[in-house]
Amino acid sequence: FERGLLSGRHVLINAGPTREALDPVRYLSNYSSGKMGFALAEAAVEAGARVTLVAGPVNLPTPARVKRVDVVSARDMLAACEAALPADLFIASAAVADYRPTECADNKLKKDPGCEDGLTLTLVRNPDILATLADHDQRPRWCVGFAAETDDVLNYAAGKLQRKNLDLIIANDVSQPGIGFNSDDNAVTLIDRQLQQHALPHASKAKLARQIITFIAEHLPGSPD
Ligand code: C5P
Repeated sequence: FERGLLSGRHVLINAGPTREALDPVRYLSNYSSGKMGFALAEAAVEAGARVTLVAGPVNLPTPARVKRVDVVSARDMLAACEAALPADLFIASAAVADYRPTECADNKLKKDPGCEDGLTLTLVRNPDILATLADHDQRPRWCVGFAAETDDVLNYAAGKLQRKNLDLIIANDVSQPGIGFNSDDNAVTLIDRQLQQHALPHASKAKLARQIITFIAEHLPGSPD
């Protein structure tokens, strides 16, 4: 692992889940731990980068020398990521909620005595943070996404790479026990713009983060040969 690989670069990473408020005391969210994104931030600092880490609500310490910006909702996360531009590299590791409640009630929602059968929520789509940054006036030189899939992993991942105009997608099979979401380990396949695949076998997220950062640094335009 070479320490100077990203010196002089600004790396923007987002991590963790988002929370989408229903009312002042309730939200929709997911089980993302933020571990992969925090490990990537640590590895990018070790490679010499200046790192901004936009984090959803997670229970993790801030890695040394990382500038952390805490956010709650997908819309806050998008605003914080845009505010951190320009960046040479954006890695979108956050598990952004795809939908949010159409409105957030001002007061705590009450159980309605007339509605014993249930409650129907209406949701609207959240912005896609990665697609927005990949199509931005200040587009980072490299935009990297994650694709957590349970089936046909590589095909779905390649489709996302093309649809979101990415430079690299990091595919992981979240149907396998012991890796991915909320786990300390992972196993991924990197897919580049030419659809070439580079498998990184099962390892700790810290080790994989260094391998991913090394791969990106070696391929980022303007990198030393
Ligand atoms: O389309 P899908 O959610 O599977 O794509 C995953 C990638 O897109 C991840 O890198 C994730 O951080 C990003 N994403 C995003 N904004 C969303 C949904 C996903 O940036 N609203």
